[in-house]
Amino acid sequence: MATVRLEGITRQFGSAALGRTTTRVAPSAGIADITFEVPDGEFWVLVGPSGCGKSTILRTIAGLEKATSGALYIGDRCVNEIPARQRDVAMVFQNYALYPHMTVADNLAFGLQMRRVEVQKRQERIAEVAKMLAIDHLLDRKPGQLSGGQQQRVALGRAIARQPQVFLLDEPLSNLDAQLRDETRAELKRLHQQVGITTIYVTHDQVEAMTLADQIVVLDQGRIQQIGDPQTIYTRPSSRMIATFLGSPPMNVLRSVYDDAAFQVYGQRLPCPEPLQAKLQPIAGQPYDLGIRPEHLQFGAKSGHLQVEISVVEPLGREVLVRAQLPTDLSAQTQDIAFQCRPDQCPRVGDRAYVTLDLDQLFVFDVETGKTLVQ
Ligand SMILES: Nc1ncnc2c1ncn2[C@@H]1O[C@H](COP(=O)(O)OP(=O)(O)OP(=O)(O)O)[C@@H](O)[C@H]1O
Ligand SMILES: [Mg+2]
Repeated sequence: MATVRLEGITRQFGSAALGRTTTRVAPSAGIADITFEVPDGEFWVLVGPSGCGKSTILRTIAGLEKATSGALYIGDRCVNEIPARQRDVAMVFQNYALYPHMTVADNLAFGLQMRRVEVQKRQERIAEVAKMLAIDHLLDRKPGQLSGGQQQRVALGRAIARQPQVFLLDEPLSNLDAQLRDETRAELKRLHQQVGITTIYVTHDQVEAMTLADQIVVLDQGRIQQIGDPQTIYTRPSSRMIATFLGSPPMNVLRSVYDDAAFQVYGQRLPCPEPLQAKLQPIAGQPYDLGIRPEHLQFGAKSGHLQVEISVVEPLGREVLVRAQLPTDLSAQTQDIAFQCRPDQCPRVGDRAYVTLDLDQLFVFDVETGKTLVQ
């Protein structure tokens, strides 16, 4: 086991890497100035939209991609010049990368064989891992004879069987069906609690990020936006992008203007809580984005802060997810707002109703930069 430390890691692609500037290659392609340290045995999750650089970071740590600049340490050792196979990391790729001519059993055994683990021990380890991932009935098949989800579990099993110093997992559950995904996620967490191997995990899935991570690293356009434990990232996001990325349904964002101790939201007036008033005074009269999580909207009263028109109701069993629109007579744009309610309160599509906002839970974001101004 080992710490993993990145100091100002940058990896540029295309002509940017050659020092030329061009309008063809976005300057954000690749990753820039990535700095973080994963302590020994911790589980860190990298999240962010497609193309933000998650795989590039993992591939650089694995040694499959060479950093343009910066330093990378695994344990006390700077590994910039150390080839991939000597780094003692196991990576599960987004596209599995199994050996197509080998059986599942041989794929699982490959890393152990390379490390000259004795046959008896090898077989025990493979049996254990195959059982855990429910692929023990597939050991004699070749990867081409497996479904996507099965291939993904074999790839995961191959990494787990090796017991490396560091695990690098790139969306390892993305091809599993919902139930297997939940089970394997819990299994991964249990496994990490038992074995405690330093793990860096890439996902699009905010539930995986929230449930698995000791720390979450949020990326956008090749740069780190925020690092924090899941609860901090959820309750104190540093920008609109992060606020709307984590949470399902995501945080509602309403364009509004603050004036006269109130927010004007699409022609409706929302009183501004007193502690916020002084903070907002300097930008009074200018538009900004008001953020509120669905769980901080109350529905069902005869009156409330905002009047909405119900557009979609989605029963989920324990609760109903309601999507509504603010009536926007003066503007061609529609403004959606989502919240949950109890099944016995379920409105009908087309109803006009009121929602009440928990005004202590408001966020205010800068329209241009998306930065959190007030929370
Ligand atoms: N070999 C390459 N040559 C040129 N550009 C590349 C190369 N690899 C990645 N990129 C670019 O670098 C950026 C980051 O890519 P990366 O694969 O790390 O994103 P990602 O966050 O893993 O996305 P996804 O969630 O879609 O897998 C993207 O703009 C991508 O197009
Ligand atoms: Mg990727």
